[in-house]
Amino acid sequence: MKLLVTGGAGFIGSNFIRYIFEKYPSYKIINYDKLTYAGNPDNLKDVENNPHYKFIKGDICDFKLVSKHIKNADAVINFAAETHVDRSILNAGDFIKTDVNGTFSLLEASRAYKISKFVHISTDEVYGSILKGSFKETSPISPNSPYSAAKASSDLLVRSYFRTYGLPAVITRCSNNYGPFQYPEKLIPLFVTNALDGKDLPLYGDGKNVRDWLYVIDHCRAIDIVLHKGENGEVYNIGGGVEMTNIDITKLILKILGKPQSLIKKVSDRPGHDRRYSIDCSKLKKLGYKPLYTFEKALKETVKWYVENERIWRRLKNSGFDKYYKLQYKK
Ligand code: NAD
Ligand code: TYD
Repeated sequence: MKLLVTGGAGFIGSNFIRYIFEKYPSYKIINYDKLTYAGNPDNLKDVENNPHYKFIKGDICDFKLVSKHIKNADAVINFAAETHVDRSILNAGDFIKTDVNGTFSLLEASRAYKISKFVHISTDEVYGSILKGSFKETSPISPNSPYSAAKASSDLLVRSYFRTYGLPAVITRCSNNYGPFQYPEKLIPLFVTNALDGKDLPLYGDGKNVRDWLYVIDHCRAIDIVLHKGENGEVYNIGGGVEMTNIDITKLILKILGKPQSLIKKVSDRPGHDRRYSIDCSKLKKLGYKPLYTFEKALKETVKWYVENERIWRRLKNSGFDKYYKLQYKK
């Protein structure tokens, strides 16, 4: 099988490529990635020389270039996106360009070249916040940030290409991922690397917002199931069943690292901050999905990875994004 993976140099995409090569050594993968600030070739150093792997630097909005590569693929797995809520609040333009227009360009190319599966990687954030209970795939979408609104828009485009043109597309909506190779601007890697440097951990608002956490390899396993067994036109929620407040996660990270709780600094809240995400994954469970990693063990492994791989994240933290953050609402 020949896969075109977009955004494969990012956090989940790079873990997915490694996962696929381990499980299906005969598969061929083209990693098509623009290498934005979040794309890091270091994430895939170990697969670079695999003869079944090819890297193409390109923008998913570039219809001509992406078509050239989609033409030779059996399936497209679309991870490419602008992904950080805080950045979307400050500047939504790139989110509309990549997450909406970029998905449109991929859909057009996939339709033109009669791709046999289009897997669109989306997020539980499209449903918005829920205080009690859990969202099902049939729940209305109600995004609250420019990021989630852009993702929701792309989900709707994917749906329309299935309904209108019969494009064999499926959508996955996953909860918050953690694990190795995550860009150190997201909660867990930011707090681990700040704590290692003895810096403050900027906790938004009262710290009681709840997220459902999933180890990235369990997400890859779920995408594998959807790629091979997912029904065209369907949406599948993917979650970890581990709901935690930000303050509890923060305390746990500090405990694992043996760092003082005094590093926690409550800062002003993120505008439009969703209080709680929660999804019901029973639909995917019927296809055999079950998260295999327990939160405490996988979080410890993740923290250990950041301790042992400073070479990878230090360069990213030194590249100026700390300065960018100081300008923001984390005061
Ligand atoms: P990431 O920010 O780590 O990586 C995104 C990748 O996309 C980068 O390699 C970047 O270079 C690439 N990219 C960005 N714009 C591009 C463009 N125009 N053309 C080609 N490549 C481009 O993101 P991630 O955390 O790995 O998320 C991957 C996907 O999973 C996204 O679609 C995101 O919405 C979704 N998702 C993420 C999470 C999470 O917790 N991280 C949870 C649910 C869903
Ligand atoms: P994040 O990792 O940005 O993921 P998302 O917003 O997509 O869920 O944030 C996870 C949670 O952590 C979210 O409730 C916001 C909070 N948070 C902080 O309190 N401080 C921070 O510096 C960051 C990045 C996030």
